[in-house]
Amino acid sequence: MRWSYRRGRRLVALATAAATLPLTAMLSPAAADTPVPTPAVVPQPVSQQAVSGAGFTLTAGTRIAVLSDDTAARGVGSYLANLLAPATGYSLQVVGGTTAPADAVVLDPRGPASLGAEGYTLSSGSGGVVVTANGAQGLFRGVQTLRQLLPAEVESTTRQSRTWTVAPTQISDSPRYEYRGVMLDVARRFFPVAQVKRYIDEAAAYKINKLHLHLTDDQGWRIAIGALPNLTKVGASTQSGFTGGTDWYYTAADYQEIVSYAASRFMTVVPEIDGPGHTWAAQTSVPELRCDNKYARPYSGFDVGVSLYCLRDQQHKDATRDFLRTVIKAVAEMTPGPYIHLGGDETPQATPEQYDSYVDSATTAVSAANKTTMGWHQLGQSPLPAGSLLQYWGSASDQSSIGTAAESESIRFLRDGVAQGATFIMSPSDHAYLDIKYDAATPYGLSWVGYVPVQKSYEWDPATVTGKPDGTGVVVPAQKVAGVEAALWTDRAYEGSSALPTSGTRWPAPQEYADFMSFPRLPALAEVGWSPQSARDWTSFRQRLGQHGQRWTAAGIGYYPAPDVPWAGPSGSGLNGIRTVTTGGKALDVPGSSRTPGTQLVTWTAHGGANQKWSFTRQSDGTYTLVNQASGLCADVNGASTAAGAAIVQRTCTGGVSQRWNVTPVSGGYTMASANSGLLVTTASTANGALITQQAATGTALQRWTIS
Ligand code: ACM
Repeated sequence: MRWSYRRGRRLVALATAAATLPLTAMLSPAAADTPVPTPAVVPQPVSQQAVSGAGFTLTAGTRIAVLSDDTAARGVGSYLANLLAPATGYSLQVVGGTTAPADAVVLDPRGPASLGAEGYTLSSGSGGVVVTANGAQGLFRGVQTLRQLLPAEVESTTRQSRTWTVAPTQISDSPRYEYRGVMLDVARRFFPVAQVKRYIDEAAAYKINKLHLHLTDDQGWRIAIGALPNLTKVGASTQSGFTGGTDWYYTAADYQEIVSYAASRFMTVVPEIDGPGHTWAAQTSVPELRCDNKYARPYSGFDVGVSLYCLRDQQHKDATRDFLRTVIKAVAEMTPGPYIHLGGDETPQATPEQYDSYVDSATTAVSAANKTTMGWHQLGQSPLPAGSLLQYWGSASDQSSIGTAAESESIRFLRDGVAQGATFIMSPSDHAYLDIKYDAATPYGLSWVGYVPVQKSYEWDPATVTGKPDGTGVVVPAQKVAGVEAALWTDRAYEGSSALPTSGTRWPAPQEYADFMSFPRLPALAEVGWSPQSARDWTSFRQRLGQHGQRWTAAGIGYYPAPDVPWAGPSGSGLNGIRTVTTGGKALDVPGSSRTPGTQLVTWTAHGGANQKWSFTRQSDGTYTLVNQASGLCADVNGASTAAGAAIVQRTCTGGVSQRWNVTPVSGGYTMASANSGLLVTTASTANGALITQQAATGTALQRWTIS
């Protein structure tokens, strides 16, 4: 019985969401926050020493000297100049030569071979900065470290006036694993090219070097195949929750643009053509893939495990083989990287013989194109070409089954893969799935495997994650682990994702969803893949990570300010000043510029008047007071009530707790909670004159404020 029905991970999930570990069980007690060196580097380098003395200060005249004629190495010099330009306003000159000039940023790709392809050393002090590597790729990784040694504002997209000093330090570094990836599910939710490029840059900053694109699924086919135009004409017209698209796919030129952009960041694109399940979109376009030989109707729903290629008879097996040959050949020709990912997950309806037939057809096509087969760990059950790479996505329940009479299917398939000599990438869903909610309040994603707070994304070891919970009985030997991949699924990329969406559901832009779910967990997983296990420690990591929130803010990355991380920087006093507070274009307003204490606040079309301007002042307890600029009165909960529905009014400022507000960044804005009641500032509607009250959090946009 090779196929017990592995129930839709995203569906059954809903029912089990509550039966997960309490969040508090996973958090360490408030650890004493010992200071970490600033700026803090993520991923943790193999060795980093503080150097005494001043750092090196960049000026408009600083040169970037690349000690090689190698085009790729010169390209890293230009990349660095471009990276520094927006925030500093400098256009640093990139020069060549063979000797290192003083007072420069020196990039030397002529380092010893012992550094490996990605290793580097970095030395910074008052006389300059030198990054040494064995080739351009190592220089590029070193430049990511260099960028973190500059003040956080260097990540800003607009010019900042300040000095730009590189912290003095001595670093020697190289990765633990060669494969450090991130997967984007562009099938359930389509990411336009610009958003993919943005995500590439975000991931490259943390030394991620593989971009796995989940290009096909039930809800969409996202890559144009010249010989099969229907695949994108019909098969790309849906997403999870959307119908009627005409350009929800990558043309050959789009894909080329992504691949080239990734290459310029020393990142390899891994295309996935999932099968034999997750193939509904293909079946809307190619009827021969179906037993009834009829076009399937496009699917925009949320279910998992709904499809299978028809593999019942020779005629359909042949049609599937022809289809895969055409598709895989075309994708391979567009893809410079060595891997083609064949999926293989969640195929409850397939018999072993049908599954084998799929794997044989697909791997034959991959090998014919001189590529390496990659697949989810289920692929291990069928014969595979030598050198195949399997991606493990099991979880703690699989680990607990190891060595028992009833080992899980995943563990059995892993054993099959090991026996065939496969190599493995670790994406344990309870640590590395970025679509899993951080906690119960996360607006997006699922929780079928529990919650994944930042600590859980960080605290695991790829070398033992296929062992029993105590680390013994490891199924995949350590030397067969090639790396780590974070996976961002998108079938629940909407607010209120614990239920199905309704007409009022808010759908964030793909990049907003990606930022919120990936930051801070993607940097955590990047460190799992890069840093030696012995150098990894949650107490140190959370503090280093806490320094990075300000970098993301500067870069415009809408991260989740997770409560298990001590965030440093402007998120503290950053809101001080005169501000306008809006939702849906309507501003928090004192009606008629009234000066009467007790007047209830409203929302009104934003017009820039003083009665819509509020002076925010941060208090020592971290809350803010809000003083209206027309009346001079403070926003206050009427009667210091703790009841939902109480009016928010203006009153003479007293500093009392009913006039203090906890302002918290959330995806797409801020919430403002009364420090007295914990209830949120809420407007009744988007109509002019809608009354402001305090209400329990519901996630509605009427409680989410833009503060500008
Ligand atoms: C998977 O999550 N179905 C690979």
